[in-house]
Amino acid sequence: MASTALSTASNPTQLCSAKNGVFSPSKALVGKRIKGLGSFGREKKEKQSGGGLVRCQATSSIPADRVPDMGKRQLMNLLLLGAVSLPTAIMLVPYAAFFVPPGSGGAGSGTYAKDALGNDVIASEWIKKHGPNDRTLTQGLKGDPTYLIVEADRTLATYGINAVCTHLGCVVPWNKAENKFICPCHGSRYNNQGKVVRGPAPLSLALVHADIDDGKVLFVPWVETDFRTGEDPWWT
Ligand code: FES
Repeated sequence: MASTALSTASNPTQLCSAKNGVFSPSKALVGKRIKGLGSFGREKKEKQSGGGLVRCQATSSIPADRVPDMGKRQLMNLLLLGAVSLPTAIMLVPYAAFFVPPGSGGAGSGTYAKDALGNDVIASEWIKKHGPNDRTLTQGLKGDPTYLIVEADRTLATYGINAVCTHLGCVVPWNKAENKFICPCHGSRYNNQGKVVRGPAPLSLALVHADIDDGKVLFVPWVETDFRTGEDPWWT
């Protein structure tokens, strides 16, 4: 109630005076807060402070019927809370979504392979268009260029090869005549499975699983042993 009473005073200097002639509005306010106002706006209080006697008296009051009761104040607090929290939550949703990796239309942790036009790769159609030992770039996990491989028996390989060179990140083209991936930037070479055979690239090209899901090629992260080296995958 003290705080409500204080809010009714538009100017404390009109309410308080000190007997020693030195006036301090802050002291006056402290005195009123400590003592409290039992009957709102009508009570006179005195406080001895710093050797001076401060006398305060409220000169105006708010009628009791204009003071909201506790139920109304709680309702107003809830409305205020809702008015603040709703826009805040709406703003936080896109902010949080920014940190969530895009699913790229994949299933589970995988991503459907996309052709050069951005369409899902249909396995049966792909094999019809691409001959044995073909290696053609598609869009793979996280948008990385990834080779889809057609085996000699015209089946799709169960793995794909990430085309990003392990030296400095150039995209490594497939050289059909050499039967190798040869990086144009610094000459690194990889065999037809992406295993490094000549530097400066320090590591083999990364692998992904190439599964078939509902007729579409689905790339899934490769976390098992690298079958080309017998070692743990360096890219996980
Ligand atoms: S980036 Fe491929 S060899 Fe340097």
